[in-house]
Amino acid sequence: MTTSKDVPKDNKLYGTKDYWEQRYQQEATTTYDWLKTYKDLKPFFETCLGDRSASMLMLGCGNSSISEDMYDDGYHSITNVDFSGSVIENMAKRCVDRTDMKWMEMDVRKLEFQDNTFDIVLDKATLDTFFVDCGDVWNPKESVLADVKAEVDEALRVLKVGGKFVIISFGQPHFRKQYIKREQWEDIKVSTIGDFFGYFIYEMTKIA
Ligand SMILES: C[S@@+](CC[C@H](N)C(=O)[O-])C[C@H]1O[C@@H](n2cnc3c(N)ncnc32)[C@H](O)[C@@H]1O
Repeated sequence: MTTSKDVPKDNKLYGTKDYWEQRYQQEATTTYDWLKTYKDLKPFFETCLGDRSASMLMLGCGNSSISEDMYDDGYHSITNVDFSGSVIENMAKRCVDRTDMKWMEMDVRKLEFQDNTFDIVLDKATLDTFFVDCGDVWNPKESVLADVKAEVDEALRVLKVGGKFVIISFGQPHFRKQYIKREQWEDIKVSTIGDFFGYFIYEMTKIA
């Protein structure tokens, strides 16, 4: 597991590719789950994700164990992307026996998939990294909003009609919903998970 020595001096570093690349070069064989684990999320996933054969895209997979835990629980069609080449290499090695799972170095703001490819797109704490250097939280910087827009637009594009985008985030609805909303979502369902250190789950279904 990652320890507190891995906490950067400045939170803004979480928004840089260099930080993640260096961190994952040091964490070649360990895993770390941001916000929640698969065990915590499983009851929600059982109702939200539907059939275990659904094709899934994990945005900013990092070295989270969620994909391998989901795979071992029957979700075999998972494509994992991250912009850190090191973590993709490490995780592909770690999961070499989970043969149906894919690991690809890719930027979530510019996905290299065809339109309408996936049933489910998942983001756990990845969109949050765009907000770490947002300036005024009530009025984030233009560059931050551009990054968020790019990820949400790409998620929408690669989802099939009827597919779902699920974001697990530390961000409260008034700091997230206005940037996630799109006419092509049926609506944005928000639920919470956890108690004192509660997090938010945003669930959107593509209707067009
Ligand atoms: C806070 S970590 C979350 C990791 C994992 N999803 C989890 O829940 O434990 C954020 C991850 O997003 C990745 N990331 C950040 N910006 C990205 C981008 N533009 N494209 C692809 N991956 C990105 C980082 O490399 C890092 O692995």
